[in-house]
Formats: sequence, structure tokens, C-alpha cells
Amino acid sequence: MLKKTLVSGMRPTGKLHIGHYMGVLRNWVVLQNSNNYNCFFFIADWHSLTTKYSETANLKSNIIEITKDFLASGLNPEKSSIYLQSAIPEIAEIFLLLGMLTPNNWAERDPTLKDLVKGAKNSGINELTYGMLGYPILQTADILTFKGEVVPVGKDQEAHLEMSREIARRFNFIFNTNFFPEPKPLFTDTASLKGVDNNKMSKSFNNDIKISATEEETINQTKKMITDPLRMKRSDAGSTKRCQVAFPYYEIFANTEIINKVKQECETAQRGCVDCKIELGKIINAYFKEIREKRNDFTDKEVLEILEEGNMKAQIQAKECLFKVKEIMKLN
Ligand code: TRP
Ligand code: SF4
Repeated sequence: MLKKTLVSGMRPTGKLHIGHYMGVLRNWVVLQNSNNYNCFFFIADWHSLTTKYSETANLKSNIIEITKDFLASGLNPEKSSIYLQSAIPEIAEIFLLLGMLTPNNWAERDPTLKDLVKGAKNSGINELTYGMLGYPILQTADILTFKGEVVPVGKDQEAHLEMSREIARRFNFIFNTNFFPEPKPLFTDTASLKGVDNNKMSKSFNNDIKISATEEETINQTKKMITDPLRMKRSDAGSTKRCQVAFPYYEIFANTEIINKVKQECETAQRGCVDCKIELGKIINAYFKEIREKRNDFTDKEVLEILEEGNMKAQIQAKECLFKVKEIMKLN
């Protein structure tokens, strides 16, 4: 059976948190290990410049940290191509060519882009840059450079992907070819983890637990988790239904036996919230033990070498694609 090509990327925002792991990385690893796909996973550093063009000082270290998170989580450079977007300038050239045939109002109307602009506003960026308007076209180039057919992403990326299909279709129509596939999103309904304060988990709220956190840091965060707001005193019976953050985490990380025990002890006031959250921290630590050990074993130098090799492999394919695109467009 001919394997389908799968492409996905993440912006290097810094050390990833366990929400990224449960929602994205874990799924990538399952897809990689299914051996059903020819996988391309990359770090979208140009995309982070679409909103954070002035914050370049930490970019290099963010790239190293995210690569460590990728590798420790189980992405395997022998099975998947793992690379840095900006190391493949062919992607930029394909982006430029696709931009020529993409109507401006496709980009302007993209609701995902509108969310991005709103997000940027919250972090103090008030203008829409040319680069940010090009976000979905660059994303399309990321995918089409490798002739990606399947793109595992969150629901929030749906509109971007729709535009990628439209751009592929338009290219094929204009040049009377079927060269580009129309990439399809692969949505996974993974439970999204809340931050310890019951808001969306995000490093900017300091409500996250890093994949790379120490055991102590993890427990310090779980101790902050919101519990049952109606449980005033230790001697009050709690309600796992009302428990906003801690219990939902048990449901994700603990086995049925423990979940049932917590529920029973909580609702009969045999268990206090502080102890309950410390125990949860330990369960999370056990869950991430191997990943964290693996992560600590990588030096920066090793990680950069792995990335360099991935870049070289990916670039061979990117060059091939660009050559064919130019041929189709009668540019070479
Ligand atoms: N926009 C994606 C996100 O924010 C990241 C991304 C960039 C991407 N290029 C991509 C995802 C190509 C899939 C394919 O999550
Ligand atoms: Fe939540 Fe545990 Fe407290 Fe019950 S005992 S409210 S489950 S933290």
C-alpha cells in the first residue's frame, strides 16, 4: 500500500506544556508509529515571526527546547522527517509562487487569521502585517512542498486547511495539472487540559505544567489547582463533579481504580484537597517520568545535529517539488 504523506508543524513558543503533549504530540507519535504515513513534522519558526517579529532573542533556544520536547515525546528521526521550516528556503519560494495566485480576500476572510489578529492584539500588536496576512498561504506552502495529504491539527486550524485545499485546487486548475493533492485535516478529539487556574493552559498565564518540569515544579503547580469551590472546610464533603481542575486531571491520568477511590474519599470527606492534589502531582510525575529522563539526556549539540540531518533530508524533497512546480509554471 502506498503511504499517504502527513505534514504538521508547531510554532516554537518555548518549552511545551503537558497540554501540548496530550493534545498534539502524543497523537503525532501514534500516527508516526502506525507506519501508515510518510511523516513530516517541523518547527514553524517563520510562523512565530508573523506575530512576534520583534521577539527574536529567544528564538534559537526555543527551537532547541521544542526539538527536545518532540524527541523526548517519541518523535523518531529514523521514522519521520523532523526539521526546521526556515532551514528549507524552498518553502519560501513556493510560498511566494502560491501567493501570486491567491486572491487577497481569501486571506483577509480567513476566520482563523482573525483569531490570530485578536490574539496578537492581546499581546500588544495592533497592526496586521503583510507577513501575518500571509500566514495561511505560508502554511499551505509548508504542506504542499511535501505534497502533504493529511494534516493532523486542532479544530482551530480548520479554516486555514480549507484555504490550503482551495489554493491547491486553484493551482491545479490554472496549470491544468493534478500535481498538488488537496490536503485534508485530521482532527483528533483529545481532551484538552485546562490550566491549574481553570483558564486555557498557557505559559503566559503561568498556569501550565511543562513537559520538562521537575517533579517538585509539577507538584507546586498541581497544588494550585482549583478544586470544589463549595468545599470550605476539610471536614466538608467534596464533590468530584464540582471539582474544576484536579478531578478532571485524575480522569485523564489515573486508572479507574484510583479514580473511584478519589471519588469515594472526596465525597465522604476522608480525603482533603491538599493531599489529593499532591497525589495527583505524583501521578503526573509517574506519567512523564520516562519522557523527562529521555529529555534530560539530550545535549543542545545533539539536538541541533539531529535537526540538521532532518533539514537535509527534507530539503531534498523540497527541491524536487520546487523544480516540478517551476516546470509546471514554465519558469525553468
Ligand atoms: N498554524 C499551526 C498552528 O498554529 C502551525 C502550522 C504552521 C502548521 N504550518 C503548518 C500546522 C502546516 C500544520 C501544517 O498550530
Ligand atoms: Fe477535587 Fe480531590 Fe478536593 Fe475532591 S478531594 S474536591 S477530587 S481536589
